Amino acid sequence: MIQLPVQLAAAQPGWTVRADVIVVGSGIAGLATALHLRRSGLTVLVVTKAQVNEGSTRWAQGGIAAALAEDDSPAEHLEDTLEAGVGLCDEEAVRALVTEGPAAVRGLISLGARFDTEPDGEIALTREGGHHRDRIAHAGGDATGAEISRAMVEAIAQDPGIELVENALALDLITDVTGAAQGITLHVMGTGQRDGVGAALAPAVVLATGGFGQVFRQTTNPYVSTGDGVALAMRAGADVADLEFVQFHPTVMWLGPFAQGQQPLVSEAVRGEGAYLIDGDGARFMVDEHPMADLAPRDVVAKSIMRRMRQTQTDHVWLDARKLGADTWVRRFPTILESCRSRGIDPVTDLIPVSPAQHYVSGGVLTDLFGRTSIPGLYACGEVACTGVHGANRLASNSLLEGLVFAGRIGSMISAKLGVVREPILPSHQDQRLLPHQVRRRVQKTMDRHVGVLRSADSLELAATELNSLATTELGRPITEDWETTNIATIAAALTRHASLREETRGSHWREDFPERDDALWQVRLVSNLNVDGTLSTRTVPRFGVTYADEGRS
Ligand code: SIN
Repeated sequence: MIQLPVQLAAAQPGWTVRADVIVVGSGIAGLATALHLRRSGLTVLVVTKAQVNEGSTRWAQGGIAAALAEDDSPAEHLEDTLEAGVGLCDEEAVRALVTEGPAAVRGLISLGARFDTEPDGEIALTREGGHHRDRIAHAGGDATGAEISRAMVEAIAQDPGIELVENALALDLITDVTGAAQGITLHVMGTGQRDGVGAALAPAVVLATGGFGQVFRQTTNPYVSTGDGVALAMRAGADVADLEFVQFHPTVMWLGPFAQGQQPLVSEAVRGEGAYLIDGDGARFMVDEHPMADLAPRDVVAKSIMRRMRQTQTDHVWLDARKLGADTWVRRFPTILESCRSRGIDPVTDLIPVSPAQHYVSGGVLTDLFGRTSIPGLYACGEVACTGVHGANRLASNSLLEGLVFAGRIGSMISAKLGVVREPILPSHQDQRLLPHQVRRRVQKTMDRHVGVLRSADSLELAATELNSLATTELGRPITEDWETTNIATIAAALTRHASLREETRGSHWREDFPERDDALWQVRLVSNLNVDGTLSTRTVPRFGVTYADEGRS
């Protein structure tokens, strides 16, 4: 097993900044947490790796799911979420999500987010895979994330109690003598007083760093999604769970075998408005695969596409969205229309080539219903967290909702009980191994090839061998690209371990050598901890009932 770093090599902090709470990340989860905390007057430092709106939130197309329609209910939203999660959701976490969801979305509107409306002024709702009702609210047609991000960034800019530090990569957690969080070390590429490695101190740290799509070669995630929060939490010894459940979005535009990095998404909402998948012979293959056909849950559609690609020996299928017509395309999907046309495809008249690509991670830093982790004072919110709402496969458009709802819960929890400020123990080491950024492509290629949609004992062993061999490459340097590469490799190794231990097929985890779901053995979660010697310990825990007390695990 690759010897994983337990701290990132960094110079001694050269400067210090303090706040009541540090939020790491500036997507919906981070900014919503910051805004909630301000209701109780706490000061918040938001640190973000690039510019404030560069994370995944602004790329979200389809929308945000909530039982807003008169003919809908949280109970039905709950049922669809549990079904999509294939027996592995934490039902209490889902209940919190769906019952608090509608008010949370209305709160966004009060904040200034402009959702699309029907002529009568009601919020316009559409459908996506796995939903039995129209419950996806959207903005700017298919620019929901961008609009939410705009409204939130404007709101935090007007609040003098929130300080934003951009171009700041979080490195490691700082703890005190009791093991509780007291801040983070971070590297800021700025000018002036805060440049280089510093320490941001606070008795509460909220990770909201998003996912780790960049562990794979082809992903819909932006370049910043290198899993920095999950890797930071792992190095701090926190419980991480469900890492094997990586969601592959069925309809990512196919740009050829050599395409790498962020790939263009074609929202499920396009199928929600009537588009359908066909193979090279024009056959609608989803019709025979699931009663919901093209609007089956995401894992079902991705697997059906993979099977059809294998049968027909092709590397993509087609999305036929021509029947939507020019008016619908312009009104509902202006972003995707532009994205297609800029690549020479006119979806009004042409088929769109699509294939599955990495899109979302259901696992992450294990939390309870209030975002608390196994480390007192460390919270996780949004895609970085594993709250249990997604189980083995996330229901479409539940991700923005999760960030929003759990931000409220974390904000209330911290406001009610802020941790004690104690002397921080600052890191003093200099000699940890970092991987050089030159190996990033090797890691990504390995993960795409061996730990992608289709997995087997053989492919996972090949991946583990390849990842182990990285340990012998030359050393990296303390720069952003090498820190990120080390984070990517840390997560890749843990994900591969989880995927090889889970000997069943469930949701987004597909084992060719164990093609059936195995409830007797596997209706449990895999939880890992990174040990101080750089090895990983993994155990199974029940899928529900996670509770962490402020003083640590209860
Ligand atoms: C999409 O628009 O298809 C993505 C929505 C999601 O990931 O939930």
